[in-house]
Amino acid sequence: MSSAQVAVHLNQPIGIISPELHGHFVEQLFDCVNDGLYDRQEERFRPLFVQKSAGLGLELLRWPGGCFAEAYRWRDGIGPQRVRPRTVTNRWGVDEVETHHVGTHEILDFCSQTGAKPWMCLNVASGSVREACEWFEYMTMATGTDLADERAANGRLEPWEVAYWGIGNECWDCGGKFTPSEYAEAYRRFESALPRLKGVPRRLIVGGPDGNKVHERARWTREVLERLTQWRWPAMHAVDLHFYTWGDWKVTGGAAAYDATQFSAFIYRALEIEDAIVEQRAILDELAPHPKLFVGEWGPWHPDANSQSRFFQAVTLRDALAVSATLDLFHNHCDKVAAATYTMLCNVLGAPFQTREGRPYLTPVYHVFEMHKAHRGGTALDVSRAAAEVGFGDGLATPGLSVSASRMGTQLTATLANLSPSEPLQVELRAQGGTLESPTARVLLAEDPAWVNDPDQPDRIAPRGWEVTETAGKLLIRLPAASLASVRCQIA
Ligand code: AHR
Repeated sequence: MSSAQVAVHLNQPIGIISPELHGHFVEQLFDCVNDGLYDRQEERFRPLFVQKSAGLGLELLRWPGGCFAEAYRWRDGIGPQRVRPRTVTNRWGVDEVETHHVGTHEILDFCSQTGAKPWMCLNVASGSVREACEWFEYMTMATGTDLADERAANGRLEPWEVAYWGIGNECWDCGGKFTPSEYAEAYRRFESALPRLKGVPRRLIVGGPDGNKVHERARWTREVLERLTQWRWPAMHAVDLHFYTWGDWKVTGGAAAYDATQFSAFIYRALEIEDAIVEQRAILDELAPHPKLFVGEWGPWHPDANSQSRFFQAVTLRDALAVSATLDLFHNHCDKVAAATYTMLCNVLGAPFQTREGRPYLTPVYHVFEMHKAHRGGTALDVSRAAAEVGFGDGLATPGLSVSASRMGTQLTATLANLSPSEPLQVELRAQGGTLESPTARVLLAEDPAWVNDPDQPDRIAPRGWEVTETAGKLLIRLPAASLASVRCQIA
C-alpha cells in the first residue's frame, strides 16, 4: 500500500468556494429534458429528480443550451403546452422533433423547486437582438407592459430573477461559426440593447473558447477581449470556457470497459482542464481583470456517446473520480473560477440522473456532487501533498491523489480521491496552524470498474460510512484503489 501526506494550510485561504461552482446544464438534446428529466406523458418533472435536485441544491442551471439555444425561439415555449408548435432541430445527424413541453415557465419553476439560479442562454446565431430583448423583458419586467401582462396571463405574476444571461453558445461553432472579432461585434450589440430595468440585475456572460482546442483557445479569448476593451467597454460579468474530457476507444477505452492504463489516460485528460483554466485566467488578468471565469460545459464524453446512443453513456466510478478531481481544481482556483455547469443533468453524457424505460435512478456522479456539497460557501485552503504519481503509457503520469479542503468556522471539509486504479493509499491529513479532531468520513467505491447503477440496483455505487482515525491532531484514512472520500472534522 502506498502512503500520502496532506497538509492543509489554515492560514493560506484561496477564496470563497462559490456554490455556483456546483451548477448543472440542461438542454433539449435527445433524452435530457424530454422524457428524461421531464415526463411528457405525466406532464411534470419526474418526482425523484425534483426531490433529489432539491436535496442536493442545484445552485445554478444553464438552459436552453447548448446548440439548442442557437435555434431556439422563446415564443415556441410559452402558453398552453398542448398548442405549442412542433419544430425540428438536427445538430447531431438526427432529426429531433421538439414539442416545447418545457419552455420558460416550466424550466424556471423547476429552478424554484430545486434551489437553482437560472443562467439563460440567448440565441445569437439565428435569433435577433430584438427577440432577446423581448424575452428579457418577458421574464424580468414586474408589471405595466404588454410582455409583463402576457407572462401574468400565462400564470406567472411575479417576474423571475435570472442570475446570468449568456450571449450565445459556442459561437465559434454551432453558435454561428463567428470569428473572434465577429463575435465581439455581436456581443457589443446584444449588450448595449438588452434592457436596463430598475432593480433587475444584468449579468452578461461572454462566450469563451473551445477549451479542447489547445491551439485556438487562447487566441479566441485574447481577440474577443481585445475587441471588447478597445473602445467603450461593454458590461462583462464572466467569460464562459467549455471543456470536455474526451474519451476514445484506443486510449481511454469505452465508458465502462477500460483497463488500468486506460483508466489513468482518462483521468489525465480530465485534469488537463487545469491548463485551460490557468491559461484563460492569465489572459483575463492581463486584458480585463474584472470578469470571472465560468465553465459552462464540462464533464466526461466517451466514444460510446454518439447520436446512435442518443448521447447516453455508462457512468462508472472512473467518471466519478474524474468529476471529483475537476471539482477539486475548481475549488483550488475559486479566486477566479466562480461558476460551472456540469454537462448534463439527465441521460446525456456523464449525467447524475438517468432513466431506463422511464425508470429513474442516480449515477455515481450524483454522489460526487453530494459528497462535495459541504465545501459550498466555505473558504478554500491551500493544500500541499506528498503522494506518488501513477505512471501509465509512454512515461506519462497522473497525480496519485486529488484533494481540496475548505473551512467554515471551525469545520473542515476535505475531499480526497485515490486516483490509482490498483493501489490502496494510506493518507495522513494534518493542518498547518491547528489540529484536527472529531472526524467523520464517507467513501465512494466500486468492487468492479465496470459497475454502474441501474433501476434494479440503484445503490450499487453509493457512499458509505468509513473509518478515519485521529492521532495527535492528525487524521489517518485508508483509501481503497480508485475511491473518493469526503472527510469532515473540527479544527482546534
Ligand atoms: O453538450 C452537448 C453539446 O456540446 C452542446 O449542445 C454544445 O454546446 C456542445 O458542443
